[in-house]
Amino acid sequence: MAVYGGIKLFAGRGSVPLAQAISKYIHIPLSGHDVIDFPNENIFVRLHSSVRGQDVYIIQTTSTPVSRNLMELLITLRTLKQDSADRVTAVVPYLCYARSDKKDQPRVAITARLVADLIEAAGADRYIFLDLHAGQIQGFFSVRGDVLTAFRILSGYFAKKKKKMHDPVIVTADLGFAKKGRNFAASLGCSMAFIEKRRKGNKSITEALTVVGDVDNHDVVIVDDEIDTGGTILQAVNTVKEYGARDVYVSFVHPVLSGSATERLAGLPVREFVTTDTVPIPDEKKALLGSRLVTLSVAPLLGEVIRRTHEGRSVGELFHE
Ligand code: R5P
Repeated sequence: MAVYGGIKLFAGRGSVPLAQAISKYIHIPLSGHDVIDFPNENIFVRLHSSVRGQDVYIIQTTSTPVSRNLMELLITLRTLKQDSADRVTAVVPYLCYARSDKKDQPRVAITARLVADLIEAAGADRYIFLDLHAGQIQGFFSVRGDVLTAFRILSGYFAKKKKKMHDPVIVTADLGFAKKGRNFAASLGCSMAFIEKRRKGNKSITEALTVVGDVDNHDVVIVDDEIDTGGTILQAVNTVKEYGARDVYVSFVHPVLSGSATERLAGLPVREFVTTDTVPIPDEKKALLGSRLVTLSVAPLLGEVIRRTHEGRSVGELFHE
């Protein structure tokens, strides 16, 4: 039973195709609103019709252009709240600054906490996120919400492929990701290996050190939460190849693909790059990876969770929990 007014869905400019796919999935049209960038870079948001008493979901990723997308999300949340929506949920498929989640050196900010405070202050009553860089970021929020994972979508893809693969091994490109990698391997019934990696200072430069586990003469699926500059994956692919891997696949949730990451990936001996649409991939980047790029949609997952949230039903059930 719905406890709030009707559902209203809004698409932020960072997530238009994904929001359209969610809208199609739950058979609720997107509501109209204007978003204008003024010459002084201030953003103006105006709703086409009232949301008074409604259960409203704003779908907006916070990938590039990060500051614009984040600010637009905040202004839209505030607009919805000030128009007397009953409940406003921020649906953020990719949350920016999630890697800035601790004070790991002197004189730095925990910016993920700042982003959480901003989202709440803007008016979010709930949040829905996907694969946060660190699950603990949920603790930065006082409002309730759900952090979902796209790993079942990605592992499901490989489950169908597994028979054609040569004794696949799941490899995590980052030790911080070992637990999720283990779940990925368990769901496929595969063994796993780890790459020990170190980041050099604050620059986006990484150094892969060694493989813990056996990849020799196995097909390998390297899993990670995101590809940003592509440095981690480049090192990981080269390392597993040095250790005797056969075909290499790369699977990651968030295709951030900053700067020349896609050119970097295109040059790697990788059979497929399997990712999702939490971050839109521009056509020119898609063209660089061609048929090796497989993009699986998170729209059915987000649509289902929006529907259940609206109806006050369990989300855990979706994950058999
Ligand atoms: C690291 O902590 C993450 O799990 C990813 O490995 C990282 O965000 C990827 O960044 P890049 O592509 O810049 O190496």
